[in-house]
Amino acid sequence: MTMNVVVIGANGQLGTDLVAAFSEHGDAVRGLSHGDIEISDLNSVSRVLEELRPELVVNTAAMHHVENCEQHPEKAFAVNAVGARNLARVSRGLDAVLMHVSTDYVFDGNKKKPYVEEDIPLPLNAYGITKLAGEHFVCTTTPKHFIVRTSGLYGQSPCRAKGGLNFIELMLKLAKERGEVRVVDSEFVTPTSTAELAQQLVRLSRSNRHGLYHATAEGSCSWYEFAREIFALTDTKVKLHVAGPNEFPAKVPRPNYSVLENRALKSQGLNAFKPWQDGLQKYLGNRIKSASPVHP
Ligand SMILES: NC(=O)c1ccc[n+]([C@@H]2O[C@H](COP(=O)([O-])OP(=O)(O)OC[C@H]3O[C@@H](n4cnc5c(N)ncnc54)[C@H](OP(=O)(O)O)[C@@H]3O)[C@@H](O)[C@H]2O)c1
Repeated sequence: MTMNVVVIGANGQLGTDLVAAFSEHGDAVRGLSHGDIEISDLNSVSRVLEELRPELVVNTAAMHHVENCEQHPEKAFAVNAVGARNLARVSRGLDAVLMHVSTDYVFDGNKKKPYVEEDIPLPLNAYGITKLAGEHFVCTTTPKHFIVRTSGLYGQSPCRAKGGLNFIELMLKLAKERGEVRVVDSEFVTPTSTAELAQQLVRLSRSNRHGLYHATAEGSCSWYEFAREIFALTDTKVKLHVAGPNEFPAKVPRPNYSVLENRALKSQGLNAFKPWQDGLQKYLGNRIKSASPVHP
């Protein structure tokens, strides 16, 4: 079964891999960047989607720089909440399915055990609050939805909202430049490769089991442990230290444990994720391949 798919945020970190994954699957994919559509504007959303008439709309667009969201909560609400509502309204009108990407930051982190879909969210900051509002708008506006919470994304394309390098590239750059790196060991996440998430989303989109899903790689680690694995797999010679508790004070409160359990995917027999170390290994392998000189 192939579909007419629209990916919003198509030149972003996840959007780039989604366009590739749906295309590989044989779908007719139209990738929309911010220049093509403004999700916080209902007129823009209706005009663009009514012309394209997709069967599936995948939304990766968000305002997700945590400090920016805290400083500009109205703007964050307009994109993350009203934007999601606009997409849900227009998708419903077109009888299209909406797949909406959300975040682990809807939780406060106090559980200290992986969060399942049934856990009650309690976001700590404007980013998490506005994303949770977006989830509520989606599920109350259109029954044909997938809301997919994920965590700790990294991909070959840079994250546009955060600018510059993903965590892996940053660690490798700092190691090369300084020979010494300090990383926090008190915040736990699941690093998730956007290439693997994109494959999982294609798979989920073929089911008609609409609803809320957690979708991250398997397992979890602190940022320090993530850095240690990056250096081990790349054989990087570097002095890695645990940063002191006040060395990198957070400007905005964040959950210090936001690990998600893919319970709904597993109960539907749809979970395709491997341990996070596998995704990292693949990413590093592709990185070497793309850096190798091409011989005619
Ligand atoms: N990155 C993470 O670690 C992480 C973790 C958990 C969940 N998530 C969620 O995953 C999703 C994708 O993240 P990502 O890292 O791929 O993000 P990204 O690289 O920043 O890409 C987001 C894309 O959305 C576009 N966009 C932003 N505001 C828009 C608007 N108002 N209207 C239309 N397009 C807009 C951006 O375009 P411009 O850059 O041109 O504005 C960009 O193409 C987001 O929903 C985020 O909340 C991310």
